[in-house]
Amino acid sequence: MLSVPGDFAEWRNAARGLLAGGISPEEVSWCDGEEGASLFGDALAAPPAERLSLPRQLIEIAERVICHRDAGVPARLYRIMWRALDDRHLLARTTDADVDWLHKADKAIRRDVHKMHAFVRFRRLGEANGRESFAAWFEPSHRILRLTAPFFQRRFFGMDWAILTPDARAIWRAETLTYGPGGTRDEVPQSDLVEDQWRTYYGAIFNPARVKVAAMRAEMPKKYWKNLPEARDIAPLLAEAGARVERMRETAVSLANPLTDKWRTRVPEELALDDDVKTLGDLAKAVDRCTRCPLYCHATQGVAGEGPAAARIMLVGEQPGDREDIEGRPFVGPAGQVLNEALAEAGLDRARLFLTNAVKHFKFEPRGKRRLHQNPTTGEIDICRWWLDKERALVRPDLIVTLGASALRGVTGKSASIKSMRGAMHELEGGTKLIATIHPSYLLRMPDPVRAAEEREAFVADLARARKHAA
Ligand code: URA
Repeated sequence: MLSVPGDFAEWRNAARGLLAGGISPEEVSWCDGEEGASLFGDALAAPPAERLSLPRQLIEIAERVICHRDAGVPARLYRIMWRALDDRHLLARTTDADVDWLHKADKAIRRDVHKMHAFVRFRRLGEANGRESFAAWFEPSHRILRLTAPFFQRRFFGMDWAILTPDARAIWRAETLTYGPGGTRDEVPQSDLVEDQWRTYYGAIFNPARVKVAAMRAEMPKKYWKNLPEARDIAPLLAEAGARVERMRETAVSLANPLTDKWRTRVPEELALDDDVKTLGDLAKAVDRCTRCPLYCHATQGVAGEGPAAARIMLVGEQPGDREDIEGRPFVGPAGQVLNEALAEAGLDRARLFLTNAVKHFKFEPRGKRRLHQNPTTGEIDICRWWLDKERALVRPDLIVTLGASALRGVTGKSASIKSMRGAMHELEGGTKLIATIHPSYLLRMPDPVRAAEEREAFVADLARARKHAA
């Protein structure tokens, strides 16, 4: 019998004792304190000191899922632990009914936690000994108070507060966090000054021109509205949105489009110069004027390749990134840093290589103040091959190393997987050799440090083969 439903420590102690005693899930019946005393009333033996070996990720998930309100959770979690003792890879078996249930329950808890972080609204109670105190009433779908309290502790460290839910309360007073029994809504004041601040804030961030009711409902489900001071303003704000947009239209000042200016300064230049490109210097200028595809519209400049015209090895990347777009040089940002280190390890001198990209303009999606890299399409790569071919004709390298799939497409004109081409020396039309390897930014994105280290080693090995070939 669990005296506090949803308490992980209590369930874990019981489960440990049972697992260590070899008690199968069928032999256990779980109930909680609310359901009355157990039939036999005998306390569980203290868990033995022996350590049970269970995957850490499973324990972490169990710590969340135990908060689920479904009464069958303690038993189901126990069955999963029991099975995991014999099957270390149980969690990866996503078609297994228990595992599927576990992941879904975990998702429901994480969503509930996210909503609680977002929708707890404190009311001011007063001030004592130089510390303000606040209280909030919240009704989570599950018993997640202990999972969420540390978040509020970090965020509101400098004040005293209590969060009351129907199941339990968390109290942060004099920098100590304690828990107590559940409460009721009327223990917390229904309105205060802070409430007005929430409403003003919400009114200010509400954008009448971007009303997406379905998305708003998904983010702020209706069941939370009754405890959100700002929720009562939603209906009037929505009702007024159309008229406000109309007013905004009437009074709007239209800003000059900076792209129009950029275009204007380019028009007088001779766009037809492309065919006169005789040197890498001409080419760099012509690349910057390129309008063959729309990518030039948003990029700062076209970024041509760089390196000696007599380079024996040409390295081809995908497209300039954010830094490259600003500096006008290839591989000077984070991926360039990874590349530089790998080149040095492989014994290659960057200054003696010709570095370029399959696509010469930065393709990105604006996100706030940031510009997020977007992969070029096959069409964009194929259009830009015009420039890559000119660079190849001017440099005439013995060996080309393609970094990533876009570079491979740019050089060969075909879509092939890097995996199928890697590890071998290929020959292009005209006798130029080709080594296909990964893009350095792939290493930056790998979450698993062990796999990233392995991939990096293979990348350096590919570059070292290029050096040996050139030697
Ligand atoms: N990634 C590339 O492919 N090229 C660059 O120049 C920079 C990042």
